[in-house]
Amino acid sequence: MKEIVFQYQVLENASALSSEDAQLLQKARSATSKAYAPYSQFQVGAVAMLNNGETIEGSNQENASYPVGICAERVLLSAASTLYHGVAIKTIAISYHNLKGESKNPVSPCGICRQSLLEQTIRQHQPIKLILSGMEGVVYILEDAAALLPLSFTAADMK
Ligand code: THU
Repeated sequence: MKEIVFQYQVLENASALSSEDAQLLQKARSATSKAYAPYSQFQVGAVAMLNNGETIEGSNQENASYPVGICAERVLLSAASTLYHGVAIKTIAISYHNLKGESKNPVSPCGICRQSLLEQTIRQHQPIKLILSGMEGVVYILEDAAALLPLSFTAADMK
């Protein structure tokens, strides 16, 4: 029998974060206002801190043809790879504003975004730290986004 475990930190709120991480989370919370989410009313903001100190934002962009919509995380990964090609991502903070309900519990990337985050960590040979939270309240910290997708399918499986 084999077992896969991963650990994550749970903070009561953002005040326990380092100032760099607290600022990044604040930017992610602000970036929720740039979402285009008229269908779900669920506005997600994701902000990356790159190895060169630059920050990049992403937000979810929906479409009347629902599957066309894209999550904040993948908007962010595409933007980072284009604007700062070849620069590794150190940390990503993700938040959401639920216009139909509460925004208190941490949001966690969807399955497709986990696959995209995993590929980015492989490309850059460096783990991506995740800071997950709503507009207020509890914050989760994961040291390696790849941990969210155990037994994953990667390019190595096609060799
Ligand atoms: N969404 C994200 O952008 N990121 C997540 O981590 C979860 C879900 C978006 C997709 C869709 O526009 C809306 O949130 C509701 O699912």
